[in-house]
Amino acid sequence: MSGRAPDAGIAEAGNSGPGSSGQGIPAKASAAEGISVEAVTKKFGALTVLNGISLSIRPGLATAVLGPSGSGKSTLVRCINWLEHIQDGRITVGGTAITARGPLNGGRPMGARDIAKFRTRIGLVFQSFNLFPHLTVLGNLIEAPVGVLGRRRADAVVQAMDLLERVNLAEKANDYPARLSGGQQQRVAIARALMMDPPFMLFDEPTSALDPELTGEVLKVIGGLAIRGRTSVIVTHEIGFAREVADWVIVMDGGRVIEEGPPAAVLDNPTTERARAFLGRLHRI
Ligand SMILES: Nc1ncnc2c1ncn2[C@@H]1O[C@H](COP(=O)(O)OP(=O)(O)OP(=O)(O)O)[C@@H](O)[C@H]1O
Ligand SMILES: [Mg+2]
Repeated sequence: MSGRAPDAGIAEAGNSGPGSSGQGIPAKASAAEGISVEAVTKKFGALTVLNGISLSIRPGLATAVLGPSGSGKSTLVRCINWLEHIQDGRITVGGTAITARGPLNGGRPMGARDIAKFRTRIGLVFQSFNLFPHLTVLGNLIEAPVGVLGRRRADAVVQAMDLLERVNLAEKANDYPARLSGGQQQRVAIARALMMDPPFMLFDEPTSALDPELTGEVLKVIGGLAIRGRTSVIVTHEIGFAREVADWVIVMDGGRVIEEGPPAAVLDNPTTERARAFLGRLHRI
């Protein structure tokens, strides 16, 4: 990945947090930080995937991101974590600004250690659970806190068992992931992300690889334990879940936001033709 070139004179991003645009923003009190995406362009070769996109993820709230396949939802999530390099614009996550020059702190390019630390503040949950197959459930949970943060193993085990209890999987602590159902694996993946107590959680279609009967238990964990008190982004096709859990809904198409607002307004009364067409298809599924 490129983009680490130091360059003086870049303004400090600070906690620019959520914008004040939009109406009907839920007034939940929270000390959490937000995410702002300003005029971001992301290309893969000649293909422009994020097309000058701007949006605000409000602190302490859950934002659902919907949109047709290929609209850039996963790419957006990956850019927020700097898993993808952006070509233009700025993403601010707490005190970190990600630009075409890479992540900056106080206007200065961040080193590998600071970037790793920045990433520990963002819990990521993907469609494919990405558990380490050679580690037990417990081993998966304590690996990063012990290996990356240098926490005491005994303390990490206590925290891991508490989290496994809360996702109803304490009895699976010593099993390997291959022995678990998809829904169980995804709950382990969520518990693993929560071990770092991240202020931000990003979910990319966390239930789309699951059979419908396993989806509910995972959504229950996300809607409760996983997002409470955090700033979260949830890419999902589950309209019912978005309606119930999200404070704000964003619809993307062609690498841009085409509609956003409170769930009821966006899901029931989209104003743009493209959002109406897309949501109409989802409602029929
Ligand atoms: N690493 C990559 N290299 C080249 N093109 C890519 C890469 N990753 C994504 N793309 C392309 O970028 C576009 C957007 O992909 P993205 O995965 O962000 O869409 P999405 O909205 O998440 O879709 P889905 O709902 O199917 O998951 C697609 O055309 C995809 O083929
Ligand atoms: Mg995707």
